[in-house]
Amino acid sequence: MEKQINAKKAAVIGCGFVGSAIAFTLMQSRLFTELVLLDANFDKADGEAKDIAHGIPFSGQMKIYAGTYDDVADAAIIIVTAGANQKPEETRLDLVNKNVAVYKSIIPEIAQREFQGILLVVSNPVDILTYAAVKIGGFPEQRVLGSGTVLDTARLKCVLSEHLRVDSRSVHAFIIGEHGDSEIAAWSSANVSGVPVDDFCEMRGHFNHEEAMDEIAEKVKDSAYEIISKKRATYYGIAMAVKRICECIVRDEKSILPISSIQHGNYGMEGIALSMPAVVGMNGVEAHVPVSLDEEEMELLKHSADTLKEVIGSLDL
Ligand code: 2OP
Repeated sequence: MEKQINAKKAAVIGCGFVGSAIAFTLMQSRLFTELVLLDANFDKADGEAKDIAHGIPFSGQMKIYAGTYDDVADAAIIIVTAGANQKPEETRLDLVNKNVAVYKSIIPEIAQREFQGILLVVSNPVDILTYAAVKIGGFPEQRVLGSGTVLDTARLKCVLSEHLRVDSRSVHAFIIGEHGDSEIAAWSSANVSGVPVDDFCEMRGHFNHEEAMDEIAEKVKDSAYEIISKKRATYYGIAMAVKRICECIVRDEKSILPISSIQHGNYGMEGIALSMPAVVGMNGVEAHVPVSLDEEEMELLKHSADTLKEVIGSLDL
């Protein structure tokens, strides 16, 4: 018999800054009625659960507690944030060996409990760990997704919104590829409520398109480095990105988000995970959306995919 899923239950594995910020955000979202926190240090998970639970009277009734793997097996979504995070001067890919080892200890615990829900990978390097989670756990690919460039895309919308003096929610643009140094701003399809981004720039008195776009893409790419050098970690932005992904799953929204997932054939990419826009709903990744790219963007995407492929090739999974 198939294991039952509790559609209103989520779990967060790893209660550092990122996991705790996610738990805090999910408590306020009222998307779930039960939230289980797990950490290698049980007291850390217990302390965070108790602290966050004291916000429940200001939000909505639910249970938040520190648990074990047995408690997470029937969750609708398990969010994995466990692992080392970037230190100043480190890239996300520098974390690969440490965090693949962490995933080798966590993912089998979930898989052996016949988990039927969605696994949402947040730890870095997120694309490699999304791939590793599928391979280690043997889960159907559709049910494993990484937070990918959902955060980078939000950063792009923030910067463009300031540049163009327009609501960030009216900006439609994607960062695709690796969540990391080889990510790509898909400028050729970027628009502000249907108006091509270059035209909107001109409306706002900006005519140096190429220079401005390069500067904006660099700023987005360097956001995490800047924040980490100033406060040692990033966590609020990713917490909101994770909340948005959970919302799409729980409400079966079928919204299009640039989550990370295993690619099969999209722009010739095969057997790696990276971010491309995808329809996200209650079954996880429901379809990949072939965003249109110009030749330069395709070249950059190929470079991003090759970078990830090389790292995957060096792993023992
Ligand atoms: C971020 O982009 C470090 O991946 C994390 O904020």
